[in-house]
Amino acid sequence: MRKIIFILSTIISFISCKKILSKKIMIEKNPFGITKDGIPVDQYTLNNKSGMKVQIITYGGIITAIEVPDRDGKVLDVTLGFKKLGDYEKRSPYFGALIGRYGNRIANGKFKLDGKEYNLVQNDGENHLHGGDKGFDKVVWTAETLILNDSAQLKLLYQSKDMEEGYPGNLDVEVIYRLTNDNSIEVEYKAATDKKTVLNLTQHTYFNLSEDKNILNHKLMINADKYIPVDENLIPLGELVSVNGSPFDFKLLKTIGKDIEDNHIQLERGGGFDHCWVLNEQNIGLRTSAILLDPASGRQMEVLTDEPGIQFYSGNFLDGSLPMKNSDFFYEKRSGLCLETQHYPNSPNEPSFPTVELNPGEKYYSKTVFKFTNRP
Ligand code: GLA
Repeated sequence: MRKIIFILSTIISFISCKKILSKKIMIEKNPFGITKDGIPVDQYTLNNKSGMKVQIITYGGIITAIEVPDRDGKVLDVTLGFKKLGDYEKRSPYFGALIGRYGNRIANGKFKLDGKEYNLVQNDGENHLHGGDKGFDKVVWTAETLILNDSAQLKLLYQSKDMEEGYPGNLDVEVIYRLTNDNSIEVEYKAATDKKTVLNLTQHTYFNLSEDKNILNHKLMINADKYIPVDENLIPLGELVSVNGSPFDFKLLKTIGKDIEDNHIQLERGGGFDHCWVLNEQNIGLRTSAILLDPASGRQMEVLTDEPGIQFYSGNFLDGSLPMKNSDFFYEKRSGLCLETQHYPNSPNEPSFPTVELNPGEKYYSKTVFKFTNRP
């Protein structure tokens, strides 16, 4: 009997392994719609050999789906988003988007370079947020695809004109999304400018690794001993503060819902977590910055980056008004979270923060990896 069970289990594992290996690395292109300005938008579907799928549209470089298996092989789209382009154009809280020229906030929409003051649109109260009224999340990127033996790659290109949204310099931007066979999504950012400018690119996907209506049962680890407290408008106060003994301590995997309603001025100001953590091991290149786990399904996402900071936003502004893409329901508060690798908010006005200035002749480069695995 034991021999029969062994033979059967060997046959089953061979078939399932063959099925996965029989999957090919593929890239499909399909029309996704026309913008309100009449520009066609395409959707690219990247498939790898392990059964993972990533969909990206040329509008905003938006990731519209990431399908990953759980520990039992059950596939789920772990991102928030919309079915229709019009919703992304009209009412998106940056679902899935590439963000620039400056991810996060700049106080009062002002900064100085070489003594000259630049005024940006104040699209978040008195402050400037995520590149302004028409940031990189709202432009149509040019796409090029490439299939390598271990990955499928989508290169997105955009030329941001001098003084676009108030930023100096003609800026050539290139973002590469690469889906590898080990279920990683690599995001590489490159840019060059013909005039000194500021730049802080990031990716703004909202994740929910579970089938829960919110992310409060997810566990999160952030590789940071310090974080950046903010004022009531989410502008950094300027100092880097230890996380020890506070709800902002995620040095070990912690359930997100554990402390999120604690009585803490920073949680009150953010309406939950909406802060930038100062990542440990600065200036060593790519390193693990965060680990997100859904214990129920076993789905895990490790975030690696060469950036100094990561904004953990627990989806506090979602208010039940935005339609879900895969059902007739709506996205409730905290139904998804963002882990936005980046330089610190308001860095152009904080000389003590790592610089975000880019000079002519310099090559901007940054890499972030979202690596999906399963825990038993
Ligand atoms: C970032 C900010 C949040 C919020 C979202 C978009 O995550 O930190 O305050 O503005 O973008 O809704």
